[in-house]
Amino acid sequence: MSDQINGVPSLTLLPDPSYAWYGTPGFSLTLADGNPVTRLEVVDIETSQIESDRKGSVVLITAEDADRGDGPTVKIELEMFGSGLIRIRATVAAREAALAVGAITPLLPVPQYADEVMDFVGRHLRERHEQRQPFSLGTHLRESRRGRTSMQAPTVLAVGPKDFGYRSGEVWATHIGWSGDQRILAERVHTPHRVIGGGELLHDGEVNLESGEEYTSPWTYFAHGVGLDTIAAQFHTFLRTRPDRVTRPRPVTLNTWEAVYFDQNLTDLTELAKNAAAVGVERFVLDDGWFGSRRNDAAGLGDWTVSSEVWPDGLTPLVSTVNELGMEFGLWVEPEMINPDSALARKHPEWILGRENRDPILARNQQVLDLSNPDAYEHIKSALMDLLDEYPITYLKWDHNRDLLEPISRANGRVATHFQTLATYRLMSELKCAKPGLEIESCSSGGGRIDLGVMEICDRVWTSDCIDPVERVQIQRGTSLLVPPEILGAHIGDARAHTTGRATTLDFRFAIAFAGHLGIECDLRGVSAEDLTKLRGMAQLWKQWRYHLANAKQVNADDPETGRSAVGFVNHSGDRGLFIVSSIATSETYPTDRLRLVGLDDDRQYEVSLVLEPTDDLKLPPWIIKGKTTASGRALEEVGIASPTFMPGSALVLDVRALD
Ligand code: GLA
Repeated sequence: MSDQINGVPSLTLLPDPSYAWYGTPGFSLTLADGNPVTRLEVVDIETSQIESDRKGSVVLITAEDADRGDGPTVKIELEMFGSGLIRIRATVAAREAALAVGAITPLLPVPQYADEVMDFVGRHLRERHEQRQPFSLGTHLRESRRGRTSMQAPTVLAVGPKDFGYRSGEVWATHIGWSGDQRILAERVHTPHRVIGGGELLHDGEVNLESGEEYTSPWTYFAHGVGLDTIAAQFHTFLRTRPDRVTRPRPVTLNTWEAVYFDQNLTDLTELAKNAAAVGVERFVLDDGWFGSRRNDAAGLGDWTVSSEVWPDGLTPLVSTVNELGMEFGLWVEPEMINPDSALARKHPEWILGRENRDPILARNQQVLDLSNPDAYEHIKSALMDLLDEYPITYLKWDHNRDLLEPISRANGRVATHFQTLATYRLMSELKCAKPGLEIESCSSGGGRIDLGVMEICDRVWTSDCIDPVERVQIQRGTSLLVPPEILGAHIGDARAHTTGRATTLDFRFAIAFAGHLGIECDLRGVSAEDLTKLRGMAQLWKQWRYHLANAKQVNADDPETGRSAVGFVNHSGDRGLFIVSSIATSETYPTDRLRLVGLDDDRQYEVSLVLEPTDDLKLPPWIIKGKTTASGRALEEVGIASPTFMPGSALVLDVRALD
């Protein structure tokens, strides 16, 4: 019995008004005759164990429309993993009566003392910047209506006591594992229940179920622990136990985009490949510009055949050189997109998402191809399969460079975002299934498609088109709440960043890229011999640490010092940590406040030494001049060690090793 007799709102996994809940409803389902479903009644509960590496328990709750025998059945799946992470989704099946699905929105309560909300905001080149506000009365609602996760995505929404940090404060967090439209919320109405959660944002008429048809919502994730590092650990563990994850060492990657942009030719790219191999690159990725009439961003998308103008002998001469140099070959594609100026658009204008007689407004000169249309889907799938059959391609950088606005399928006149998102997942999965070992990088104008939906399939994310290390500190910190370092693409770019014009040292660019899956994205042909030698050493060094990075727990100091941040990667036995301490602004105090290294074992003694020689020789404390120091884990965390006075744009990379 619920306490509804007194009219006190009580919560269910999908809260509803029939239990006096007057906050955001957990479901919105309307029968064909216009009657809403207002109460679901549990008819069955089953429990089982998750046997895969993820380990955990499943509760499957079957509920039915309490008032209408012809109303839907709703199966709610609740998965609870050993790491502490929980995820919930529901499958709605129409019985006799047809049904419009408005929303499925799992919500979970958080206590009254969670009184601050943190999430992320961003845009192209500036993804995942943290914002905080009081958890005030009302609904803090973040929606994406861009047909992709988007660069402005909240990514993770967390609540906790005021000023909760990475190391302290009890935190509750939620995330939507979905790459289409979505909403995520933190809500406080005049009840004792504060809630967080969210789900897919469906449009009117988007999902209508006929009798016997089903809709499954994406997973809504919930994490809980002390400090944001605990939340990150739960998401990281989840990804690291993905059933078909790649386990081989992450190859150092070169991406050609900022090296040559659209200006591709065999001579230049062969030279670039030789330079890449010489510095220790293991995967060479040919970016945009290799196909159809794609000489700039105004034409060619949709025509996935190698351009005979640019590559008269196909890609074989380049791919063979790359392979002979000992590197794998990867290729950029953007399968969901189409330029109006393309052979495909001229032949099949009906495959473009939009109203019958009007295309949506252009974005980057392109439109979206309707992959919910089986003919368009098959066409793109076979074009991609042909490429994978013809060339030894082990990696696709899969891009998605525009929003879905007016995403109407010309096949049925309905909003297609939901089916488009599912079609993309299916296409990625089918290609991976057909080509075992194929890896996919999720890119969307940089970091616009980073969520646990796509990451169930993809192997790497392109974190941002901005590879300026100063900007990257925050972008990577935000992204790493969800994404572990081995999946987070981080490249060393040119000395002067293309997207900001800011100049930084090679050491600093490397130090920041060290904390992810390392890549190089600059024209190595123009790099001095001295820097090429340095780059080679850097690639070698990162290779020594990549196993550690891919298995470590990430820790972030809540550093009060302005501009400075310290991220660490500590292995599970606690005897080794890699710490990257960087500064992007001048410090408020002088000399700079002590440097705290967190997340080690309190009672063990550690030796702290330099992984990279500091280039900043201003005010170096004696231990840096000596090259090392020792302290207990507790002292490193609570007292810290003397810090150099960092210049903005400088970093220290430290190896911390237990002495026992
Ligand atoms: C997007 C990606 C870039 C690059 C270009 C190519 O902007 O984020 O990395 O691949 O497309 O057009």
